[in-house]
Amino acid sequence: MDWTTAYGMVYRSGKVSKGQRVFVHGLSGSFGYALLTLCKRQGAEVYGTASEYNHAAVRAAGAHPFVYTNKDWMMAMNAIGGAHVVFDPLAFESCDESCEILARGGGKLVGYGGNYNVLNGGKTRSQWPQIAKLLAKNLNVFCPNSTAFFYVDRDQSTFEPELKTLLEMLRRGEIQVPIRKLWTLDQVPEAHRLFNKGPGVDAVVIKVAHDVEK
Ligand SMILES: NC(=O)c1ccc[n+]([C@@H]2O[C@H](COP(=O)([O-])OP(=O)(O)OC[C@H]3O[C@@H](n4cnc5c(N)ncnc54)[C@H](OP(=O)(O)O)[C@@H]3O)[C@@H](O)[C@H]2O)c1
Repeated sequence: MDWTTAYGMVYRSGKVSKGQRVFVHGLSGSFGYALLTLCKRQGAEVYGTASEYNHAAVRAAGAHPFVYTNKDWMMAMNAIGGAHVVFDPLAFESCDESCEILARGGGKLVGYGGNYNVLNGGKTRSQWPQIAKLLAKNLNVFCPNSTAFFYVDRDQSTFEPELKTLLEMLRRGEIQVPIRKLWTLDQVPEAHRLFNKGPGVDAVVIKVAHDVEK
C-alpha cells in the first residue's frame, strides 16, 4: 500500500520531474521512504522531516532532513525558493504550513492522510474536514498553487498496472525495500510493538501464508 500510493503520488498527482525540489513530511516513515526513493529516481532534490535519530538513514538515501520539533524547515525551504511539490500526511494544522513553503511561481500540495493529531498524542478524527480545508485552497483563483488529496484502492483501474510496474522495478533492482525483520502471523503483537522503534527506514514484513511451490 505504501509503495503503490507513493507511486501514484509521484507520477500521477505530483508529476515530479528532474530538477524539482520536493518536500516530504515524515521522510523516515514507510510512505515517506517510498516517496523519497521514487522522487530521487525522477531526478528531484528531496527535503523533508524526520526525527534526528533517523537523519543518517534518510541522508544515505539522498534526502536533506530537518527535524519536525521546530519550524526551521520552513525558513530553510523558503530560503532556497520553496518546494515545487509537497507531500503531506499530517493534514489540517499542517496544511497552511505546507502551502507556505510552495515555490513562489506555484507548486502543488498533495495530502494523503490525517495523522497530525495522533502523532502529537491526540485522538483519531474524521478526515473529511481536513480534506475539505485542503481542497478549498483551490478556490483562490489568484493563487498559482494547487492542492489535491490522494488515495488508492484496489478497484481503481491504475492499481494493478502500477503494482505490477513496482514489482518489476523491484525485480530489476531499480528500487530496494530494506526489510528489518520478517515476522509470522502469530508474532503480530510483537511486530506492532517494535515496528517504528529505533532508527532506520527498514520495513516490517508479516508473512501471512506459506510459500507456494511452483
Ligand atoms: N492516502 C492513502 O491511500 C493512505 C493509505 C494508508 C495510509 N495513509 C497515510 O499515510 C501516513 C503515513 O503512514 P506511514 O505508514 O508512512 O507511517 P509511519 O511509517 O509510522 O511513519 C510516520 C512518519 O511520521 C513521522 N512523525 C512522527 N511524529 C511526527 C510528528 N509529530 N510530526 C511530524 N512527523 C512525525 C515519523 O518520523 P520519525 O519516525 O523519524 O520520528 C515517520 O517519518 C498516515 O498518515 C496514513 O494515514 C494514506
